[in-house]
Amino acid sequence: MNICVIGTGYVGLVSGVCFSDAGNKVTCLDIDAQKVENLKNGIIPIYEPGLTELVEKNINEGRLFFTTDYAEGMSDADLVIIAVGTPPKENGEANLQYIEAAARSIAEHLNDYKVIVTKSTVPVGTGAMIKGVIKEVVGHDEFDVASNPEFLREGSAIHDTVNMERAVIGVESEKAEAILKELHAPFTKNIVVTNIETSEMIKYASNAFLATKISFINEVANVCELVGADVTKVAEGMGYDPRIGPQFLNAGIGYGGSCFPKDTSALVKIADQVGYDFKIVKDVEAVNGLQRFKVVDKLVEAFNGDLKDKKIAVLGLAFKPNTDDMRDAPSVDVIPKLQELGADILAYDRIAEKNAKALIPNLRTGDDLYEVIQNSDAILILTEWDEVRELDLEKVSKLVESKVIVDGRNIFDPAHMEENGFYYASIGRKTVTS
Ligand code: UDX
Repeated sequence: MNICVIGTGYVGLVSGVCFSDAGNKVTCLDIDAQKVENLKNGIIPIYEPGLTELVEKNINEGRLFFTTDYAEGMSDADLVIIAVGTPPKENGEANLQYIEAAARSIAEHLNDYKVIVTKSTVPVGTGAMIKGVIKEVVGHDEFDVASNPEFLREGSAIHDTVNMERAVIGVESEKAEAILKELHAPFTKNIVVTNIETSEMIKYASNAFLATKISFINEVANVCELVGADVTKVAEGMGYDPRIGPQFLNAGIGYGGSCFPKDTSALVKIADQVGYDFKIVKDVEAVNGLQRFKVVDKLVEAFNGDLKDKKIAVLGLAFKPNTDDMRDAPSVDVIPKLQELGADILAYDRIAEKNAKALIPNLRTGDDLYEVIQNSDAILILTEWDEVRELDLEKVSKLVESKVIVDGRNIFDPAHMEENGFYYASIGRKTVTS
């Protein structure tokens, strides 16, 4: 199959590369000439494990191409995939200006029947809007539009695409259904075929549900602290019930990233526009907004209410491990709050530090994990990178005087920390003060 992918962001690039690796000819198109030039030379704009290697492999094997030119990208494509950004507007609505611009450019280069598929997360009704824009330009409707939302996670994007749990296909014709089924056949047996509106809704409902699970377990954690229960055990006990499932029950500092915050607020807005008050998702957002500051309270408590001039070693800046993505990362709110309280922050995150510095004013970072920890008054864990999980606690004990750790990701066992003489505060579990 010949495919043209519009937009070389996370979704577009990963999907394009995985589709090419499955044997399709894929041309990834972006209007950013510098980005395209870099990609042609195997220089990838994002940090994603395995992506550079897979791009190089498929370029070398002659299946993956990059261009800024719609005529070149679309000339022999059977399928055109729209994967441009839909950033949130000030009011939480998804901004569709890039989608509309892509639809116009596609229309101007539509030389024969093609299926135009939207992979970007878009509000219900966007498929119909794209169809209207293209029809207006070309003056006929001998093309199909379709919806095919993306469920990949940053940090494991290639694995998630190659081993997708399901493909969701929203279509209006059997021809488009057949083409999209053929494309996904190598990746999954679970293909949900539906209309475009339902497909668009599946993406929002899925992400809002996962965000709900996280805010739910975080509220359970907050109650656990007050009644002396242990949230990790509560989650384990809940998770064996297949109706609940063990995943997304890790209590912590709440969700961040490019999807959950944006998609929950977009869903609230979609509902609002049709006169429905989506109460649960609004509360999920409110709980998440507060949860990140729990670690600030715990640090304040550890130092009896005074963080002035306390040296805090912050481990991890990205919203989750294996990514340099700082979009809505809890660290962006937590660090300035600590600085406001007078704390002296030195952070460690070799992958995300560059992006973090663009968002957090006066952020100081160090190149070596143990040098950052050395002589700190407290360690604050914000991202559970493997390197942080594997922290050598014996070594840490020798580098610091006050052995205070506040852990926003629950990566250590409190009993073990107590045995080793740490003051250890985590989320939804008893603080040990040995
Ligand atoms: C998410 C969805 O998982 C994916 O299907 C969708 O396409 C895009 O949004 P992503 O944002 O990359 O993917 O990361 P994910 O691994 O889902 O984590 C999201 C956030 O939730 C992170 O901040 C993570 O730390 C947090 N989280 C996740 C928890 O706090 N607890 C959990 O149990 C799971």
